[in-house]
Amino acid sequence: MKDLFDKIYADKGPLGKWADKAEGYFVFPKLEGPISNRMKFQGKDVITWSINDYLGLANHPEVRKVDAEAGVKYGSAYPMGARMMSGHTDMHEQLQNELAAFVQKEAAYLLNFGYQGMVSTIDALVSKDDIIVYDVDAHACIIDGVRLHAGKRFTYRHNDMESIEKNLMRATKLAEKTGGGILLISEGVFGMRGEQGKLKEIVALKEKFNFRLFVDDAHGFGTLGKTGAGAGEEQGVQDQIDVYFATFAKSMASTGAFIAADQEIIDYLKYNLRSQMFAKSLQMQLVEGALKRLDMLRTMPELKAKLWENVNALQSGLKSRGFDIGTTQSCVTPVYLKGSIPEAMALVKDLRENHGIFCSIVVYPVIPKGLILLRLIPTASHTLQDVEETLAAFSAIREKLETGVYKRLTAAMAAEMGE
Ligand SMILES: Cc1ncc(COP(=O)(O)O)c(C=O)c1O
Repeated sequence: MKDLFDKIYADKGPLGKWADKAEGYFVFPKLEGPISNRMKFQGKDVITWSINDYLGLANHPEVRKVDAEAGVKYGSAYPMGARMMSGHTDMHEQLQNELAAFVQKEAAYLLNFGYQGMVSTIDALVSKDDIIVYDVDAHACIIDGVRLHAGKRFTYRHNDMESIEKNLMRATKLAEKTGGGILLISEGVFGMRGEQGKLKEIVALKEKFNFRLFVDDAHGFGTLGKTGAGAGEEQGVQDQIDVYFATFAKSMASTGAFIAADQEIIDYLKYNLRSQMFAKSLQMQLVEGALKRLDMLRTMPELKAKLWENVNALQSGLKSRGFDIGTTQSCVTPVYLKGSIPEAMALVKDLRENHGIFCSIVVYPVIPKGLILLRLIPTASHTLQDVEETLAAFSAIREKLETGVYKRLTAAMAAEMGE
């Protein structure tokens, strides 16, 4: 009989197998210093384009003050226990009420982490007779939530209305047999490529099909819509989203998350969300910190305006220099280049070491072979000077990529990797 660990000794997994080449640099890099537009990487100053601190709140002095004061007042333990048992407070309720009002829903419920919260919300919303219809490019937390589902699920081609309609048709036929309902799950903004979910078109299908819409708006909350209520507000269909989700890990620059919906649905979820019923309540320091951040989202529209000034400068600068930034409709700014994995590694090293630019890199198998995706996240704390320096650096690395400089530099590594 095999030992359970044999497979681990034999295969470190699709990402883990690159650890000796990538760890500490391409994965698990250590960015140091206060979170801002410029941080330190391996002792060097870099412009950071890889942090979802969209509104620049992470290190805002008012935010830091509230976080510090709440830490002194409550420590990191209070309140202890799950919400249902002993971890409930007036402040948790206040934050829920304010979040619900902000995203134009009747009620909201706090989640300790977005990821577990999404998994658990999907789990609580469906029973075995129900059918889930979801985007093939969904975030891992959606995929894991769907994995818990004991009934049928259908994926549709990414943001493809024909495929959505076809799968709703299949789901409807099946639901008529099982006696269940349909849950359609989309993201408000797809975090890798930056496209918005086609919420307006999806909502229009409610005329033809009976389904409920659940939207993970991690990247849309605080960045899209007139008031910052997200992708639904941006597309004019916020009231048609049946269950809305956002995390505090991006625009709110913190930890925690929430769901919002009609009162009756939230009342049900708060008694059925296993990730909240059987886990410690969100700590008060985070609750107070979230109240402060939410207040700033409401009262300081200049933060979102500055974010979009930077987004527009970066995206239009890249486009006018002929870069392919795909079909983004959000702050997420992908730059697609053609090259092998070793070339991608050399290019990113050049960006970091010689141009002081730090951004995330995505390669095969996440995207098709032969493509390199550099993902830039502009924030309100960036400056137009940061944008200019980055555009110049990108032009320089593209020139080297196209003239084969990185290919020559990495020929030995490419042979070793069978590229
Ligand atoms: C689309 C999406 N959903 C959910 C999450 C998970 O949120 P959290 O970091 O709060 O666990 C993330 C990442 O933060 C995300 O990008």
